[in-house]
Amino acid sequence: MNFNLTREKIDEIKAKLEIIIVINGDMKHRFVKDKKALKRAGFKGSHEEVCLLHKERKLYVGSESIKSPDIRAAIAVAIRSLKGTNYKSAKIATYINHHKCTEVLRGMVEGMILGAYSYDRYKSKKSTQKLKDITISIEEYHGYELNLESCQRAVTNAIIGADATNYTRDIVNTPPDDCYPLSMAKIAKKLAKDNNLSCTILTPKELKKEKMDTLLAVARASRHEPRVIHLAHKPKNPKATITIVGKGLTYDSGGLSLKPSDFMVTMKADKSGGSAVLGILKAVSDMNLPIEVHGFIGAVENMIGGDAYKPDDVLVAKNGKTIEVRNTDAEGRLVLADVLCYAQEQVKADYLFDMATLTGACVVGVGHYTSGVMGNSKMAVDMVLNASNKISGEMATKLEFNRYLGKSLKSEIADICNISNTRYGGAVTAGMFLAEFIDEHHKDRWAHIDIAGPAFVEHTWGENPSGASGAGVRTMLRLIEKVSRGDAHGQTK
Ligand code: BES
Ligand code: ZN
Ligand code: ZN
Repeated sequence: MNFNLTREKIDEIKAKLEIIIVINGDMKHRFVKDKKALKRAGFKGSHEEVCLLHKERKLYVGSESIKSPDIRAAIAVAIRSLKGTNYKSAKIATYINHHKCTEVLRGMVEGMILGAYSYDRYKSKKSTQKLKDITISIEEYHGYELNLESCQRAVTNAIIGADATNYTRDIVNTPPDDCYPLSMAKIAKKLAKDNNLSCTILTPKELKKEKMDTLLAVARASRHEPRVIHLAHKPKNPKATITIVGKGLTYDSGGLSLKPSDFMVTMKADKSGGSAVLGILKAVSDMNLPIEVHGFIGAVENMIGGDAYKPDDVLVAKNGKTIEVRNTDAEGRLVLADVLCYAQEQVKADYLFDMATLTGACVVGVGHYTSGVMGNSKMAVDMVLNASNKISGEMATKLEFNRYLGKSLKSEIADICNISNTRYGGAVTAGMFLAEFIDEHHKDRWAHIDIAGPAFVEHTWGENPSGASGAGVRTMLRLIEKVSRGDAHGQTK
């Protein structure tokens, strides 16, 4: 898609189609022109309601408000509805009357790129999204003249963030036989080459040397060897250092604690955290943000076999803690334990985050569309919440740790058990397990993000397609942008 900003009035722009957003059902707005035809079509302008008037060459879509998350979702739904049509160009007017509102423009452009996404690598007939050229009118609105440069920056950043999200979606959607740990390492190497990142890949021999025996145990029954991937964006004179660790289970069968068939389907998406790390590194380097960003991915496949690790095994993590395995399906935390230890040893970061499709319990607790954010650092947790809900358009909510749930991870024979002894609070106990592997320096700088819900949903929702959403990419990008501006802890405007 090409985006062209102009100060021309919307009616003076030539395009095959005009897209009009109806805000909060306000059909009286001057942008709404075809009142009769809309009435005939029964269009009310409710949120994400779409009405395509072929004769008039207009596409109307409702948005609950002018806030960027609503605009982003609405415009994505509108663009998605154009699949199969022949419109090659479109024009759209903005509703911007304040300099801070370039956020609306960013949401609009992101929504278009995210809504146009489809995964058709394995389809004989490829999708037919013909829309290529979009002209956006930033004519004076309510007497407010927009700064062209800041509008252009908003569009560029939108393209970078949305492209990175789609890049992550492609990786997550790739079937497990075509995307295994070595494939993820190859993707990382290519990204490093294209975007001038540093890249280190650890092979099993090196993992053994690093004492990452817990990760190696999870990987043992797979014919695909594990890899730990370390990517870094290192600008000159960085303002801060951020580390992001991602769970990259290219397949999670559950291991010997085998998943029931219905629950195994979609487990190719267990690499979503690691795939998000790749997308984030792509975006921060495309934007050339003045922050040093390190991404670590534990790329592993959890399978069954005579060689598989077992419930009852006791594993020794990289930091020397012993772990009693009682369920081989709680493998993500085992992999992350070692990768978190390795990441903290490699880099003393100002902020540390991990992203993982860690628990079904998180999906049960907060639903499919929301991530669970937790940790001992209120600051780090708030940074994620502030960057997600209000600006990135991704939903996230806080889940609280407590000492009683912490006790449920006690083991009779080892330092800690890999599952809790209570049925409830599974997302929190998984987070508290990870907290055991955070060192003194990072404990007040770390937050864990459980993306098990939003990472992969089998229906479209807002700007997200059926399948992988690229969860975490836009949130972390916004967080890093905020740190680069020095307002990471502040509330969003
Ligand atoms: N990868 C799963 C979690 C998951 C579930 C992600 C559903 C996305 C959708 C994870 O490895 C897992 O299996 N967790 C177990 C933990 C349990 C054994 C304590 C779970 O959530 O059931
Ligand atoms: Zn599992
Ligand atoms: Zn898993």
